[in-house]
Amino acid sequence: MAKDKTRYVCQQCGYLSSAYLGRCPSCQSWESFSEERQKAKPNNKTSERAALIEPRPLSLVPNQETIRLKTGIIELDRVLGGGLTPGGVILLSGEPGVGKSTLLLQAAAGAAQEGRKLLYVTGEESAAQVRSRAERLKLDPDVLWVLAHYCLPDIEEQIEKGDWDVLAVDSIQTLQIPQLGSPAGSPVQIRECASRLIALAKAKAVPLWLVGHITKDGQIAGPKLLEHLVDTVLYFEGERDRPLRILRSFKNRFGSINEAGIFEMTGTGLGQVLNPSAFFLAERPKLASGSVVASIMEGCRPLLLEIQALVSPSPLAIPRRQTLGVDQARVGLLAAVLEKKVRLRLFDRDIFVNVTGGAKVGEPAADLAVAAAIASSWLDKPIAEETVVIGEVGLAGEVRSVGRLKERLKEAERMGFTRAIAPLLETKGLMGLNLEVQGTPNLARFLAQNFGFLGGRMAKGDKERERENGDGDYPI
Ligand code: TYD
Ligand code: MG
Repeated sequence: MAKDKTRYVCQQCGYLSSAYLGRCPSCQSWESFSEERQKAKPNNKTSERAALIEPRPLSLVPNQETIRLKTGIIELDRVLGGGLTPGGVILLSGEPGVGKSTLLLQAAAGAAQEGRKLLYVTGEESAAQVRSRAERLKLDPDVLWVLAHYCLPDIEEQIEKGDWDVLAVDSIQTLQIPQLGSPAGSPVQIRECASRLIALAKAKAVPLWLVGHITKDGQIAGPKLLEHLVDTVLYFEGERDRPLRILRSFKNRFGSINEAGIFEMTGTGLGQVLNPSAFFLAERPKLASGSVVASIMEGCRPLLLEIQALVSPSPLAIPRRQTLGVDQARVGLLAAVLEKKVRLRLFDRDIFVNVTGGAKVGEPAADLAVAAAIASSWLDKPIAEETVVIGEVGLAGEVRSVGRLKERLKEAERMGFTRAIAPLLETKGLMGLNLEVQGTPNLARFLAQNFGFLGGRMAKGDKERERENGDGDYPI
């Protein structure tokens, strides 16, 4: 019979050693090792192990890809690459309060339909709290089994005993192995608890969800420590005071990482936003100056968003460039290009830019729309109705290609837009669209065509500056 093993774990960094060490060779801390007994695995019979370590032709390896357990939440299943896989481990991380437990409970109940048995282990809430949350979410309480406990060896015993189809642990930071001596949430506990649970899930070929909290700057060690141990890392993001939530995959051994699921937090749990463009454009004012519709790619999906800008005379020596949902430096850059290349006087104006609905734009493909919104507000002229604006803006004022233009235009067409403005080079040879596409080579042409603006008058002092610098080249 195999013997129990003793090993020593550094409580600071998790370094493992077979002998006691006074100083950790990894993190250099003194007297940080504590003893830990590892139980010999009872089912590791020599014959079984021998069978496992024998090479086999790939064709004889069972294809688990075909077995997908749907959660019934379309947005989530898509991000997962089709659903849960047997023995697949998913780390669901996000800031506290973003809605991880809610999503997990909804997903768990979905997967537990059709007679599947799900165990929801919670170290954060009592069983009664989970029950009242399930009622609020209108979930069937009969399909969910709950275990409100934090001691890992007991939890393992219950997992071993039952015949579970899905396991969910909320959260990994609350679990503890008392023998380790360190507090719950410490790196050693997190790593040990997670690796034991993962080994159990793999051995039983049961999908396992792990919830991990992170702080705003992603600092807490937990989820970062686990990323390489799990198969899928999902990150749930959103602002607490807004309903929008976006679920992204950062790592996925069973699917693409370019997927994003969009949800809305409501009074009765998370709702799926199956038509995100309609969601973001719902309250768009018609023919308002400073409002422009952009098209960005959210994962593999094109998405239409409204970008709003407000330009007003600044009482300050250094005017403000304030943004919400767009990078402030990018707006500063676009303002400088507008000033230099089309003579839009902005150096004494405050500029505020906002992406409505709480969405964030990280793609340069929204540059032209941001510049258009600023110009539209400055000129107090709206852009033509039902127009979507797409393009990256370079420092020379040129409008550059963005990639996947056709998909973006198709989405605009689907949403009832009749006109699109896009980078000139990319629009050549576009066919099969029910949409008038105007190709634009640069900002100057864009402003001339859409606002009838032919370049601003020179600001006071500009002439002198120009004479000194020797650059007076304006396209129009
Ligand atoms: P929760 O899932 O507990 O977040 P996490 O597990 O990530 O810490 O959800 C937190 C917030 O969601 C909480 O502030 C209340 C809100 N909420 C709703 O708005 N509607 C609901 O139906 C539920 C269950 C929660
Ligand atoms: Mg929670």
